[in-house]
Amino acid sequence: MSEKRFYIETYGCQMNFADSEVVNSILIEDGMTPVQTAEEADVIFVNTCSIRENAETRVWNRLKEFRSLKKEKDHLTVGVLGCMAERIRDQIIDQEKLVDIVVGPDAYRDIPNLLMEVNDGRKAVNVLLSLEETYADITPVRTSGNGITAFVSIMRGCDNMCSFCVVPFTRGRERSRPMTSILREIQQLSEQGYREVTLLGQNVNSYKFEDIDFTRLMDEASKVDPEMRFRFSSPHPKDFPEPLLHLIAERPNLCNYIHIPAQAGSDTMLERMRRPYTREQYLALTGRMREIIPGVSLSTDIIAGFCDETEEEHQATMSLMKIVEYDLAYMFAYSERERTLAHRKYEDNVPEKVKKSRLTEIIQQQMSIQEKNNKLEIGQRHVVLAEGKSKRSDQQLSGRSDTNKMVVFDREGYSKGEYVEVEITDCTSATLIGKPLRKVSLQNYYRKDADAVLA
Ligand code: SAH
Ligand code: SF4
Ligand code: F3S
Repeated sequence: MSEKRFYIETYGCQMNFADSEVVNSILIEDGMTPVQTAEEADVIFVNTCSIRENAETRVWNRLKEFRSLKKEKDHLTVGVLGCMAERIRDQIIDQEKLVDIVVGPDAYRDIPNLLMEVNDGRKAVNVLLSLEETYADITPVRTSGNGITAFVSIMRGCDNMCSFCVVPFTRGRERSRPMTSILREIQQLSEQGYREVTLLGQNVNSYKFEDIDFTRLMDEASKVDPEMRFRFSSPHPKDFPEPLLHLIAERPNLCNYIHIPAQAGSDTMLERMRRPYTREQYLALTGRMREIIPGVSLSTDIIAGFCDETEEEHQATMSLMKIVEYDLAYMFAYSERERTLAHRKYEDNVPEKVKKSRLTEIIQQQMSIQEKNNKLEIGQRHVVLAEGKSKRSDQQLSGRSDTNKMVVFDREGYSKGEYVEVEITDCTSATLIGKPLRKVSLQNYYRKDADAVLA
């Protein structure tokens, strides 16, 4: 047992944020107390990301900042968690005494022991990856956040081996968490007043526990609490299950929003990326999504300037994005990662300048699509889950529509955690602005207005 105060700073994807909540739970169980700033802490953990070089650079810079805190407080312990752990454990420990403890994503249960080793004056490392660990029995402790929306991890690791991606190396083999443990966590969240859950995995549609697949899991999850709504991230286009589209269409509490990463728009590029689908298959899939779920909102991930990318391939990505008209896109310049297939087999040969200009072109097109889409929202009504006060004013609430768009509206008599029907009156490229009409329940709203919604 330790009575120390700890602080966790998290980088990277939603899965890392969910993992930090598991680490919270493990440390609190061990007698430690969470604090909100690095300055107050006896132990600082940085939960790290390796996905692109700039993600790692940010972490290194932060660790250097903590070095000066270490100089002021000699008992201060600094630890690295997450995806950078394995790859740079030797560097991290030796270099400039920045870090005392390094823990990989599957070894968080070992942190209390590792902290004891540090107390004894040793450096402590556990970066072993596991075939089984899902932290199924650990209830994550959500110390930050809004108390309304939560992430629930349903699987770990990834077996897809896309040629550009480091995740299979940092997080190990894919494994699914038992459904009963997922449903139990959702039930607890519902009892605590949470209204929205996003189910997380690197490739959620390959969820498989015994004979339960992802569609069945979503079906069961949505029945836990009909007034709690659900999203998921990320599915893979190679095997997205069509029955899930019908389920989303019929269940009021499965959000009409799908993040479906394309990465690129040409068959030749998709093949080099080891993404086993064609442009045509991808477009057929997004077409089915729009057919089966009227009004569905789609978002994507795109990489610009991957190895050997030609101008023609780049234009194919541009045209794919234009056809699908995503409401949101996460767009990146390719960043070579050690150990990946691309690192071993291809040359990172698109000049930095070209990568950047292609990325800019992609971003500019996307911004104008979003602006156009958002203008079409004016006059529409959305059910918005109020997540808290808006950034600008206490007199306004903000939250997301079912279609995952950020909506800001006047507070009037409404409160955080309520579903509010809002009529959109204005927009920017990133936010919708609206007028609240009435408080609604998901079940009644979609039942009563079924005709209007279908019309
Ligand atoms: N499992 C998710 C993606 C997780 S990583 C999926 O398959 O959709 C999030 C995004 O980072 C990826 O979709 C990809 O667009 C981007 N990414 C991954 N590796 C990258 C690299 N080496 N350089 C640039 N972007 C990368
Ligand atoms: Fe990376 Fe591909 Fe796995 Fe996503 S599916 S985490 S991009 S290897
Ligand atoms: Fe980064 Fe690891 Fe997530 S590399 S994107 S934190 S899985």
